[in-house]
Amino acid sequence: MAVKIMTKPAQMQKASRAWKKRGLRVALVPTMGALHAGHGALIRRAGRLADRVVVSCYVNPTQFNSRTDLRKYPRRPGLDASLAKQAGADVIFQPANLYAGDASTWVEETERSRGRCGDRRPGHFRGVATVVAKLCHLVQPEVAVFGEKDHQQCEVIERMVRDLFLPVRIVRHPTVREKDGLPISSRNLRLSRESRQIAGRWTRVLQQAAATGPGRALGTYRRLLRALRPVRSEYAEILDGRLHAAVWIGGVRLIDHRPCGRKR
Ligand code: PAF
Repeated sequence: MAVKIMTKPAQMQKASRAWKKRGLRVALVPTMGALHAGHGALIRRAGRLADRVVVSCYVNPTQFNSRTDLRKYPRRPGLDASLAKQAGADVIFQPANLYAGDASTWVEETERSRGRCGDRRPGHFRGVATVVAKLCHLVQPEVAVFGEKDHQQCEVIERMVRDLFLPVRIVRHPTVREKDGLPISSRNLRLSRESRQIAGRWTRVLQQAAATGPGRALGTYRRLLRALRPVRSEYAEILDGRLHAAVWIGGVRLIDHRPCGRKR
């Protein structure tokens, strides 16, 4: 089946209804575009779980904390369409806007969205939960695939799905990493050559610290990080047996997490 680009919410909903009438299973891979190899892995995973794969590419304005960040977010719909097609998508859903001018309905998860990124990016997870709920209503997937790199996002979405009885199964796909261990992210492209090297060292520091186990990981991480001068720590926390961290390197915010006490 040739890949189809859909831009209208009603058109997307109609297509999904028709698939479901034929007994086809639908998978959703929600993205904000700027697709990379990590997204490719999510799309291929979705293809193994369903008969039809929809990749949504929508830069969701309500999850940004700054207008500059929103403006700077890479937009390349043509390239996204060909990458999604290569990875096996059936539909690329690229809506222009998912909010009415006077939209006043929000989805807010209030527990898992606390701490870590939630505290540093007020309103971010409310924007994420709201847009994912909208996408689920439009695409009506049986399954939706999310990257585990955004660990807290996965937790928030899973809680929302459970609490709102949304008929969708959330699948977490393991973090896809560059050769040096840095999680693949569209933000990596904004790093200078030098910052990119430092980012690779940072992710190895995180892994090394996590391997020392839950009791020592945080102290080790802080000590090792002091040697990586240009890295500004935003947070570092042990939660559910994992070391989670966010840093700023060369003006770019990066996040990662590693299981404590396990060498990987
Ligand atoms: O992870 C992302 O790219 C976004 O947060 C998501 C889930 C597509 C919602 O806009």
